[in-house]
This record gives sequence, C-alpha cells and structure tokens, in this order.
Amino acid sequence: MCSSAVGRWWRPFGIVGEATVFHVDLAPHAAHEARASEWLNAEERVRSDRYLHAGSRRRFTLCRAALRAVLCSRLACSGQQLTFGTSSYGKPFARVDEMPNRISFNVSHGGSHGLIAVAPHGRLGVDIEERSTRDDLSSLTDAVLGPSEEREFALLRGYRRTHFFFRMWTLKEALIKALGVGFSQDPAKFEVPLAVRRGAKTGMHRFPNLPQTEWRVDDLGTGDFAAAVAIEASPRRSQMSSE
Ligand SMILES: CC(C)(COP(=O)(O)OP(=O)(O)OC[C@H]1O[C@@H](n2cnc3c(N)ncnc32)[C@H](O)[C@@H]1OP(=O)(O)O)[C@@H](O)C(=O)NCCC(=O)NCCS
Repeated sequence: MCSSAVGRWWRPFGIVGEATVFHVDLAPHAAHEARASEWLNAEERVRSDRYLHAGSRRRFTLCRAALRAVLCSRLACSGQQLTFGTSSYGKPFARVDEMPNRISFNVSHGGSHGLIAVAPHGRLGVDIEERSTRDDLSSLTDAVLGPSEEREFALLRGYRRTHFFFRMWTLKEALIKALGVGFSQDPAKFEVPLAVRRGAKTGMHRFPNLPQTEWRVDDLGTGDFAAAVAIEASPRRSQMSSE
C-alpha cells in the first residue's frame, strides 16, 4: 500500500499496554494527499469531497488512509477487503470481507497532527489538540472541568494554565472516545485521577456513573501538542456495544 517514493506520513509514536499509538503528519503535502486519496474507497471519497474546508478534507484523508494502512497490515487484508461501520454514536469499527472484526482502534486529528491508537481488542480512545493561547479558556471550563479541576485551574497562570486545560481536555476526550458515547457522557461530570492531574503520566479511572469498568488513561502530550489515550483495563468481549 505504501510507495517508498512518496514515503509514509505516519510513524510509531508509543506503546501503551497492548495498544500501539501512531503519529500522523497532517501538514499540507501534495504527494501524501494524492497518495492518501487513492487509498480511500468510494464512500470515503464522497465523504472527503463533502468537506468544504481544505484543512478538514486533508486531515480526514491523510488520517483515514494511514488508518487503512495500519489496519490492513495488522489484519493481513487488502484495502478492498477493509470497510468501516459505525456505532450508533458514530464510533467506527472495522469490517473485513463485510464481517465485523474485533480489532480496536481510534483516531484523532487536529491542526497539523493526528494520532491513531490500535490494539487487538478492548475499547480505546485517543485525542490530540494543538494548544492555543485563546483568551476564552475560562469560559470553557464550566463545560469541561469538574469542581476540583476548576479550583486547580483557577490557581494557575500563563502557559501552566493553558497546559493544564488542554491536558484535562485531551484526557477526558480520550476517555469519552474510549467509551464511545460522544456528548452523552458529560466531561464536567467526572474528574481525571488526582495523581494524573498532579503530573503523573498514567493513572486508572472509573466513570462515577459507570463504576463497573476501569480504564487506563495516559498523557501523551509533547511540546507540540496535548494528547492522551484511554484503554479499557478489563476488556469486554465486544468493543462495538456501549455500556
Ligand atoms: C466525535 C467526537 C467523539 C470527537 O470529536 P473531535 O474531538 O472533534 O474529533 P477527533 O479528531 O478527536 O476525533 C474524530 C474521530 O473520532 C472517531 N469518532 C467518531 N465518533 C466517535 C465516537 N462516538 N466515539 C469515539 N470516536 C469517535 C472518528 O474516527 C473520527 O475521525 P474520522 O471522522 O476521521 O473518522 C466528538 O464529536 C464528541 O462527541 N465529543 C464529546 C466529548 C466532549 O464533550 N468533549 C469536550 C472536551 S472534553
């Protein structure tokens, strides 16, 4: 699937438990974009063409093509054999020859960076955000942070405040994406584990309304972006249904 002349725009970024995380370079690149769009199927091309904004089209195309390459390699199948279905909340899952496959994956894209996490089974979620020094962070905290997190945020200034906010945002979004139920899980109604809020790179989490499942959550942030991955610690048999 990958031509050495064009090269790859994704690379292994880390291993977290059973999951492998790939970084996807989403910066404008004509040759990568041309190659990536060749790998999409008819349905994905229609979706790509619907994006009015060139940046959104590029991010979707480069990430989906990289996801296809990663999954085809793992599943030893061709691009024609691989299709995607979606849960009722829109979380994609893989099909090979029309049969749902238990391989677990999740994708996030923002700005010039994307992440793909893939594991043999179990639910997982990933999130990446470029940190922006926006003035309205305080107006977003009610929607994103829980009470203790809000108090901790209020004590911070300057870049520490920005880093804390985007760290919490990506950790929570990764957990929500692992659960797979979108906005129906309110990020302000749960808090990131205390040790992780205080700087630990990894911790264990339970949603207060869904205490039966434990999740591992890892901060994958770098100087360039905030990022996180969340992985079901005791995977259920199927990743495709939600709690
Ligand atoms: C889809 C959603 C889960 C993530 O959206 P986002 O942050 O804008 O976008 P990301 O780039 O991180 O992720 C998009 C990818 O997530 C995947 N995705 C779509 N629906 C999903 C779902 N319900 N659960 C998990 N992953 C989902 C898709 O692969 C999508 O990529 P694609 O469209 O290229 O296939 C979002 O719409 C959502 O529901 N968020 C709720 C969480 C929230 O309130 N966040 C606020 C800050 S904590």
